[in-house]
Amino acid sequence: MSRIVVISNRVSLPDEAGNPAPGGLAVAVEAAMRGYDGVWFGWSGNVAESPGDLVHIQRGHVSYVLTDVRPADFEEYYQGFANGVLWPILHYRLDLADFHEADLDGYRRVNDFFAERVGALLEPDDIIWVHDYHLMLLARALRARGHHNRIGFFLHTPMPPPDLLTALPRHEEVVGALTDFDLVGFQTDNDAGNFARYLSTVMGAATADARRYRIGERVFRIGVFPVGVDPEGLRELAAAGLDSDFARELVASLEGRTPMIGIDRLDYSKGILCRLDGFERFLERYPEWHDRTTFLQIAPPSRSEIAEYANMDAAVSTKVGHINGRFGQVSWVPLRYVNRGYRRDEIAVMLRLARVALVTPLRDGMNLVAKEFVAAQDPDDPGVLVLSRFAGAAAELDAAVLINPHDRDSLADAIDVALGMPLEERRARHRELFAVLEANHIKDWGRHFISALTRPGRSLDQVLGRWRDAERLKRRPPH
Ligand code: G6P
Repeated sequence: MSRIVVISNRVSLPDEAGNPAPGGLAVAVEAAMRGYDGVWFGWSGNVAESPGDLVHIQRGHVSYVLTDVRPADFEEYYQGFANGVLWPILHYRLDLADFHEADLDGYRRVNDFFAERVGALLEPDDIIWVHDYHLMLLARALRARGHHNRIGFFLHTPMPPPDLLTALPRHEEVVGALTDFDLVGFQTDNDAGNFARYLSTVMGAATADARRYRIGERVFRIGVFPVGVDPEGLRELAAAGLDSDFARELVASLEGRTPMIGIDRLDYSKGILCRLDGFERFLERYPEWHDRTTFLQIAPPSRSEIAEYANMDAAVSTKVGHINGRFGQVSWVPLRYVNRGYRRDEIAVMLRLARVALVTPLRDGMNLVAKEFVAAQDPDDPGVLVLSRFAGAAAELDAAVLINPHDRDSLADAIDVALGMPLEERRARHRELFAVLEANHIKDWGRHFISALTRPGRSLDQVLGRWRDAERLKRRPPH
């Protein structure tokens, strides 16, 4: 059987017990590689003046192969072009993109460097699967080195419409390089449609079915592969976690108040400031909830060397202090704000205990916290998901309370509705949401992508058939 070679910027090593590291990409890729002999290649997370030999770590059937990058690479490729230009544009934030030609040079250089290093490990029948916006030039760089393998790409972030993409300097080179992959996968129909329009209107690609494209001699496909979760596994993890000191301490600290939760990397795309505006408006409008609810916002720091992230960190801290100062009482703090990450089992139990989850990104590729919250709930007494319509997850989870995160008044009202929702409605919505999760299990995600990559015609149709089945499960109109 062919090996699967996964390449991503960030590689998350599972711990010695074989538990995957926290984080959507890590969990999803780990599940995707089950049953395959595989290699996962990427950045070690370390910066070195002269990157030495590759580090090889074997865990089960997967060999993790890690490389350091140089300080200039970290600045130009990771902070500069990937996270200072591509990330904001992919999240519809042209205003935050700060383009410098030197950063694009660094991006080209690291894509070449990755191709060189991973290229030395490749066998002709390896199936290569590249993840995310850091490595859009990788197929081109590998092909230039004579690798004729099947190479797929999956974008975990949103793909914006052509009007935004074309504001990216050198977009023909960077976005155009995706056409060197055999299959380009997206989280939602909307993302795939935006890319399809870019292909037709900007690149002049020809297509008969909006899935298979041709530019000159080159033929490639695009597809929709929404990342899922393991709903039963998460439900069990969350239920088991209730019998832990961590859960008991959390419950005791609530003193009977109804918990709400938000869990996000500290990133402007997550809409934390707008969420806090909505929460503040909720406290203004619904004083009857004072001292009866506690909102726990977990926000591990992220990319904090980038100015925009540091600014946002400061703004959120200020806002938290303002809300607690304005509404808090000597015996009640409305908002608990925690800047650290938690283990997967701890996250599962926090989600389980929450009556309401606020998942309100301004833009998000998928947002697995939304799905994990649904999975973690007690089906007999489930909590309510308040979900931004701009999260990829909203395309599937339309039995959630869908909101516009820019509208603080409607967010405030949605929080009130969610906190007061009767049990029967909570159960009915949860049943629908859980069924959607079951119809798109994480174990199928990698299998479908890889089979579409290796046997394009038949399996892509199967994938689309499955997607249509999931669509049929959705009956409730958007709120
Ligand atoms: C998002 C991206 C991932 C990235 C992760 C953490 O989920 O899609 O590619 O790894 O954020 O960001 P970081 O910059 O720490 O890798």
